[in-house]
Amino acid sequence: MSQSSLLQADKIHIWHPFTQAKTAADAIVIIRGQAASLFDEQGKEYLDLISSWWVNLHGHSHPKIVEAIVKQAQTLDHVMFAGFTHAPAVTLAQKLTALLPASLQRVFYSDNGSTAIEVAVKMSLQYWYNQGIKKKRIIAFEGAYHGDTFGAMSLGQSSGFYHPFADYLFDVDFVTYPQTWDDDAQVIAKEAKSLAELDELIQQKASEIAALIIEPLVQGAAGMRFCRPAFLEAVVSRCKASNILVIFDEVMTGFGRTGTLFACDQQQQVPDIICLSKGITGGFLPLAVTVTTENIYQNFLDCTFEKAFTHGHSYTAHPLGCAAAIASLTVFEEEKTFDKIKIIQEIHKGRIAQLAKTGKIQHGRVQGTIAAMDVKIDSTYASSMSQQLRQAFLGAGLNLRPLGNVVYLMPPYCITPEQLHQAYDKIEQILHQS
Ligand SMILES: Cc1ncc(COP(=O)(O)O)c(C=O)c1O
Repeated sequence: MSQSSLLQADKIHIWHPFTQAKTAADAIVIIRGQAASLFDEQGKEYLDLISSWWVNLHGHSHPKIVEAIVKQAQTLDHVMFAGFTHAPAVTLAQKLTALLPASLQRVFYSDNGSTAIEVAVKMSLQYWYNQGIKKKRIIAFEGAYHGDTFGAMSLGQSSGFYHPFADYLFDVDFVTYPQTWDDDAQVIAKEAKSLAELDELIQQKASEIAALIIEPLVQGAAGMRFCRPAFLEAVVSRCKASNILVIFDEVMTGFGRTGTLFACDQQQQVPDIICLSKGITGGFLPLAVTVTTENIYQNFLDCTFEKAFTHGHSYTAHPLGCAAAIASLTVFEEEKTFDKIKIIQEIHKGRIAQLAKTGKIQHGRVQGTIAAMDVKIDSTYASSMSQQLRQAFLGAGLNLRPLGNVVYLMPPYCITPEQLHQAYDKIEQILHQS
């Protein structure tokens, strides 16, 4: 099918996610991905600076991951995961638990970030239920995004995305997120305010609170909003002291994004549950895990089915996804990925500082491979700003998708320093013209 007929058929049959089709620009037909780039039918190259919805780690079509998937498909395509198990799932669980904090030992598989969160929330609620303890409330942070299923929407309702479903979302207690950036003189005061809110909530409702959930170090969809490791530590220690389970949503931050393998590695406190997805397969296949402690797992064991965790998906622990994830971890090690991450971080820091000098941006911030900046705008243009910028970036061969006035980069780790510098040159030029 030619590009124009493909697009025609797309317009007739396809409903795209997070898209207002009436006003959106035509979708771009991508036919190939290689390393840090995507290519359309005319051969135009788009540097994938956001790793295709934050999933790609080592580059598109990485041959080692391709090979692992092909090999697995030829051996075992799928088997139901209740009553059966298989080597890719067991090996991946062993590898992940060896990399995660020591107490996180039990892996529950699912297939996307939202379901990893649903699993974490259901696990937390049932953990208390199974013990006959009435703890039913959840604390989340303002602006948080945890996915689009009903539980995840409830946790993310302050994002403002979900008004049509408001009547069906469960009640959640929200704490202000102490968003910070480079040279933020107010950070201590912001953190103190958030912690005071948390203290008050705990004082009023500790006996009812089952769990707290947070995107550690970086709130993604809210606009790459950063918080400090010290804040995270203070939050977790307060929860532990009050018998509140802590869930880290590392769906986006996992697998090196923040400079360490997991964001939780940057502080001393360990969550009770961690959710991983997106980068887990290197961006190849849908897969997610919710990893928890032996203590939580033990609370679901009983002689009757009553206490069992009644959750599962048809494609749970898909062998191809697990094989891709194992290969991605191998590539991570073999290709000295942390060296690449350090180089990306240094380039980000230098170029964001340079951009700040132009006066076009403020609140520049870098955390590992994530760089973000708020573009200064005249409020009259605020609503159309992200669309206009996105189109300008695409025109220049950059896959960037601003969140409101926040322009951010989160490239695959295989991006070369030259590619990244060239991208910043173009961004600077586009912002200068805007
Ligand atoms: C922090 C976080 N949690 C959960 C999700 C939901 O993941 P998925 O889109 O795979 O359902 C996302 C997606 O962007 C995310 O950024």
